[in-house]
Amino acid sequence: MSKLWGGRFTKETNKLVEEFTASINFDQKLALEDIEGSLAHVQMLGECNIIPLEDVEKIKNGLLTIKQKIEAGTMKYSVQHEDIHMNIEKLLIDTIGPVGGKLHTGRSRNDQVATDMHLYAKRKTKELILLIDAVQTAILNQAKDHVHTMIPGYTHLQRAQPVSFAHHLLAYFWMFQRDKERFQDSLKRVNWSPLGAGALAGTTFPINRERVAELLGFEMVYPNSMDAVSDRDFIVELLSISSLLMTHISRLSEELVIWSSQEFQFIELDDSFCTGSSIMPQKKNPDVPELLRAKTGRVYGNLMGLLTVLKGLPLAYNKDMQEDKEGMFDTVETLEGSLQLLAPMIETMIVKKETMRSAVNQDFSNATDIADYLVTKGIAFRDAHEVIGKIVLYAIGEKKYLLALTLEEYKSFSPLFEEDIFEVLSHEHVVAARKSYGGTAPSQVENQIKLAEKHVLR
Ligand code: ARG
Repeated sequence: MSKLWGGRFTKETNKLVEEFTASINFDQKLALEDIEGSLAHVQMLGECNIIPLEDVEKIKNGLLTIKQKIEAGTMKYSVQHEDIHMNIEKLLIDTIGPVGGKLHTGRSRNDQVATDMHLYAKRKTKELILLIDAVQTAILNQAKDHVHTMIPGYTHLQRAQPVSFAHHLLAYFWMFQRDKERFQDSLKRVNWSPLGAGALAGTTFPINRERVAELLGFEMVYPNSMDAVSDRDFIVELLSISSLLMTHISRLSEELVIWSSQEFQFIELDDSFCTGSSIMPQKKNPDVPELLRAKTGRVYGNLMGLLTVLKGLPLAYNKDMQEDKEGMFDTVETLEGSLQLLAPMIETMIVKKETMRSAVNQDFSNATDIADYLVTKGIAFRDAHEVIGKIVLYAIGEKKYLLALTLEEYKSFSPLFEEDIFEVLSHEHVVAARKSYGGTAPSQVENQIKLAEKHVLR
C-alpha cells in the first residue's frame, strides 16, 4: 500500500476517487508555506525533546533540499499523494529515509493546512496593501495636476454642480484608503497560529505552541484547538474585503469607460492600455477598465462560494474545507493583476481639460448658486428654489445658459437680483465657493491632498 495513511486499507483507491479528492493540482501554491510551517514545527519538536536534535537536523536539511526544488520549479507532484502536505512528506521520506516520518509527530494535516493558509493569507494581504498604495499614489499624482481643472459633477448621471477634477479623483483615493485599512486591520486576525491544534483536540506530546507561533511570526495562538482547525473566517474576511475593493475598482473603471467615450471625451487612455477592433479601424476600446469591471463578478462569486461551503458544517475539520483554496487563489491573483494595471493606467491617462471645461460651460450646474444668492438676500431656500426653477425653465425656452441671461431678465423674476449675480454664477466662483470642510473648493482640495499624502506608505 503506497499511501502514507494506507495501513488501515485493504484495497487501492479508485482512480477517479483519487483524482476527485486530490487537491495537489491547486494547493501546490502553498508549497513554500508548507515548508516554512514544517521547519518551525520540527525545530520546536527538537527544542522540546520530542525528537532527537540529530533527527531535527536531517529533517531540516531534507526540507531545505525540497524547498530548492520548489523554487527551481523542478518539484514533481503526484495526485497519488493527494495534497501538498503529503507530496512533501513523501518526498522527504524518499530523500532522507524513514527518519523523515518523524516530522508529522504531534501534528495533523488539519492544523498543518490551516497554518499554510494563514501564512499565505498574511503574505498576500501585505502585498495587496502595497499594490493598493500604488494605485492611491497614481490617483494622488493626477489629482495634484488637476486641482483647478473643472468637470461637471453628476448625480443620477445628470449634471449637478461643477467640481474640481482632483476632487472627483480623490473620492477614490479615500475609498482605497479604507480598503487598505481593512486589509491592515485583518492582519490582526490572520496573525493567529493554528499549529499544534492537532487533528482537532490537541496532542499528547509536550509541544510548545507559542514557540512555533514565534518562529512563524504569528502574534498569538488559537486558544481553542477545535476552532483552530474548523474555521476559515480569516479567508472569508479576505474575500469579503477583496469584494469591496473590487466594487471600488469597478466603479472607477466604469467612469474611465464613460469618460473615454466619444460622447464625453474627458480623458484618453494611453494606447498601451487599449485595443482595436478587428472590423472597425477607427476604434480604440477601453478593454482594461471593462475587464476590471467584469472581474468583480468572479471575486464576489468566490466569496459566495466559500460562505456556502462553510455554512452548516459541523465541527471540526471536514473535507468540504479543501474547497477554500481555489477561490482564495483566484481572488488574490485577480486583485494583484487588477491593481497592477490600474495604477499605470491612471498615471498615463490624458486629461482633456478643455472638453471638461466646455462641458461645464454648457449646463445649468450653477443653478444652486443663484438660489444660495437669493437666500443671502433674505429669501427662504425653498422659495428661492421655486424662483430658480422658473428661471431655468425660461432659459431653456430661450436656448440660453444662466450666464447669458441679462440683469433685466433676472430682475423680472425677483427684484433682489443685482449686477453681482454674474460673478456668483461664474464657474470658477461656483467651485471656489464650496469651501466647507471636504468641499470641492481648490483651497479645500489642497488641504485634502496634504492629508492624503500622509496616508501613502511609500
Ligand atoms: N488537502 C486537505 C485540505 O486542503 C488537507 C487537510 C486534509 N485533512 C484530512 N483530514 N483529510 O483541506
